Amino acid sequence: MSTSSNITAVDHRVDEDTRQRRFGHAGAVLWLTGLSAAGKSTLAMRLEERLMEEGYACYVLDGDNLRRGLNANLGFSPEDRAENIRRVGEVAALFADAGLICITAFISPYRADREQARRAAQHTGFHEIHLAANLAVCEERDPKGLYRKARAGELSQFTGIDAPYEVPLAPELCLDTGQESVASSLERLLAYVREQCPRRC
Ligand code: ADX
Repeated sequence: MSTSSNITAVDHRVDEDTRQRRFGHAGAVLWLTGLSAAGKSTLAMRLEERLMEEGYACYVLDGDNLRRGLNANLGFSPEDRAENIRRVGEVAALFADAGLICITAFISPYRADREQARRAAQHTGFHEIHLAANLAVCEERDPKGLYRKARAGELSQFTGIDAPYEVPLAPELCLDTGQESVASSLERLLAYVREQCPRRC
């Protein structure tokens, strides 16, 4: 899909092992996906805080935040969401390549877009984590009032109402954020990261 020509890849002089020794762990992408109000931003930010306390180098890329900058020119059509996730997938892969744990919090409703993000990070680790609170629960929570607006016809292409969410078929981890508390989802996430991305020192 690249339209650039006359491009030659440049090798880094810093290797992966040197980066791992600097940060104390390998880089990885933790890709949180789920409906609006499923708990993605809440869990991502708490996970970042706890991992930093434990000595991990990590950073959250959040949908609402990136749509204020890097992705400010994108809306919510399928094409714009695909471009949103393509950019984020590439940026997250760069963070992981740099040696960080990159936590992403995007609805990322389309399987094909998530699979593309997985391919972008195939040389590091990519972990798809489904926050599985269902539509009824998310609509009941409605912290930003967006479901109400969508039902009233004041907001179109809203995920779960008049735009699809394609449930992950084989996520590395699934958390029932509709039933369990934030605290217990967070503990399960932390246990998963400690096991999958162990600190080497
Ligand atoms: S994604 O579908 O392209 O992955 P992303 O995670 O970046 O979405 O942005 C979702 C956020 O945008 C929601 O948390 C919500 O605050 C806001 N938003 C505004 N309009 C919509 C819409 N039509 N569908 C979903 N989210 C919307």
